[in-house]
Amino acid sequence: MTVSISPDPLNLALGMPKAELHVHIEGTLEPELAFALARRNGVSLPYADEAALKAAYAFDSLQSFLDVYYACAAVLVTRADFCELMLAYLERAAADGVIHAEIFFDPQTHTARGIPFATVLEGLEDGLAEGARRWGVSGCLILCFLRHLPEDECLAALAGAEPFIGRIHGFGLDSSERGHPPSKFARLFARCRALGKPVVAHAGEEGPPAYITEALDVLGALRIDHGVRAVEDAAVLARLVREGIPLTVCPLSNTRLCVFKTMAEHSLPQLLAAGVRVTLNSDDPAYFGGYLNANIRAVQAAFGFDAATWYRLARNSFEASFATDEEKAGWIARLDAWFAEAGAAPA
Ligand code: ADE
Ligand code: ZN
Repeated sequence: MTVSISPDPLNLALGMPKAELHVHIEGTLEPELAFALARRNGVSLPYADEAALKAAYAFDSLQSFLDVYYACAAVLVTRADFCELMLAYLERAAADGVIHAEIFFDPQTHTARGIPFATVLEGLEDGLAEGARRWGVSGCLILCFLRHLPEDECLAALAGAEPFIGRIHGFGLDSSERGHPPSKFARLFARCRALGKPVVAHAGEEGPPAYITEALDVLGALRIDHGVRAVEDAAVLARLVREGIPLTVCPLSNTRLCVFKTMAEHSLPQLLAAGVRVTLNSDDPAYFGGYLNANIRAVQAAFGFDAATWYRLARNSFEASFATDEEKAGWIARLDAWFAEAGAAPA
């Protein structure tokens, strides 16, 4: 029996195979799991119950979100907790058609509470291995440094991670952007590059386009996370296009954190029209109203993209990944087959 797929662009986009390149595993902690782990580990959350926690999700800035995000991360204690968190994410991602995920984790959030780095890493790896078995999702880990902390503390965190270096796919920079420019971390990222790892950085989310330039020039970032404020500087925008720098854009995150007041005001269409290699991602889906397909629905409601644009976004997600050329070719063949079966030839 052949099953025909509706060639409606939204259905094509929801069902198409795709990669997710910007998701913080701590940002996938749903309220139900947060309270279950709090009970299991005897940790008290500063919210009376799930309803009170959800009520705290009325963010007006990146910092207002990070305060809640760091508070909730305190429930993650054991290797099994990190495994459960990863599995819960991978199940949802697989249901959204994600076949490859490059997943951020923030070890300093955990080691500062006395959780060993190995506990965090091994738990996340357990989840990745089980997720690959159950749903066929390929995944790897990108270690993010917290930019609100001094560079010396981040260098110490890197030293703590170095014994595990073969199990870390790349390095990133996240947390409070304003007042913490990429140039603060020049030595740290020189060391990351010397270890032979690809580097990414959050830039141009709340911070100015100049932070995107610094992330490229000073840190050697190969992808920019968010980068949505690039449209405010024509030279920065032109450079992203010229050099083919991918942006990992997270539309629901940007509207929930008031980077844009409404989805209609998001810079995504301008970035695409300029020819930037945009990818779509969920960032912290437990906090921002949904996983990758929720982002796709919200974007489609605002902009009504055609099938060719959705194909381009999915193809970008594979091309911008840090996988091998062989893996990328296999995933793109699956994407092409999905569009061909729907009678919507890839553009
Ligand atoms: N950490 C988790 N989510 C983040 C975001 N959107 N920006 C910066 N740091 C983060
Ligand atoms: Zn992020």
